Amino acid sequence: MKKITKAVFPVAGMGSRFLPATKASPKEMMPVVDKPLIQYAVEEAVAAGITDMVFITGRNKRAIEDHFDKAYELEAELALSGKDELLRVVREVIPAHINCIYIRQTEPLGLGHAVLCAQPVVQDEPFAVILADDLIDGDTAIMKQMVEVFQQYQCSILGVQDVSREQTRQYGIVSSTNLEPNVELVNGIVEKPMPEAAPSTLAVVGRYILTPRIFHHLEKVQAGAGGEIQLTDGIAALMREEKLLAYRFDGIRYDCGSKLGYLQAQVAFGLMHAELCEEFSAYLNTLDKRCDGCRDK
Ligand code: G1P
Repeated sequence: MKKITKAVFPVAGMGSRFLPATKASPKEMMPVVDKPLIQYAVEEAVAAGITDMVFITGRNKRAIEDHFDKAYELEAELALSGKDELLRVVREVIPAHINCIYIRQTEPLGLGHAVLCAQPVVQDEPFAVILADDLIDGDTAIMKQMVEVFQQYQCSILGVQDVSREQTRQYGIVSSTNLEPNVELVNGIVEKPMPEAAPSTLAVVGRYILTPRIFHHLEKVQAGAGGEIQLTDGIAALMREEKLLAYRFDGIRYDCGSKLGYLQAQVAFGLMHAELCEEFSAYLNTLDKRCDGCRDK
């Protein structure tokens, strides 16, 4: 029985959809309420029993390394001024038994290439990939749900969700047959098809468990959609050799790679926040929810 001990976080992307916010700081450090997106992603991996966090970083991403490093001066100051609760918050950013490993992706050649950069660390083990842009809230951490499916089937698994046909051009889209509730056997996968060409509306959303054989395929993949080395194309080749599943996770996903999804996440997580929920909810109820454009009509 293989275990999943490593998670790969591709964080080298430019974050151009959030410029100018992401001009000098990583999009993965953008907070939802009080925690950066990358911390939610790492916490999800920790909840799944993963111990080695492999970040594929690029230029302007130093803040991510600093975030998961020990902050001696800050901790000393908080301790000195008796701010014990904040000290606890800072120390709990990363549990002591977790290893953080950073690999630099020197050229932005695509998600498939980013995952291939993790090969020297992952080597010959199945591993998780988590895209921090996709913030998913569930009673059970989504990666934990996927690890449980992996324990049963011991093969690659994609986290999937139904999207509208209009949205297929934003996702990897799978075709599949149903195996059991929430688990599908994948027989096709294509990156960002036009709505009329999409084989289904079942979209891959930022959570993967992959066998190490994926590296063999990623080495051979040519630039695909958008001129990038696509993870989806590597997975399509893997599927021809090995069993590939899609898992409809139990949770709500916020597409924090888009401004609308990011705003929705702020509202949802604000309403779930222990200290803020009551006041924030009361505030939302006072709002005139029509936008300026609607109000003029
Ligand atoms: C990437 C993948 C795509 C997947 C999506 C999930 O696309 O290439 O297959 O469906 O993440 O968020 P990106 O959003 O980076 O364009």
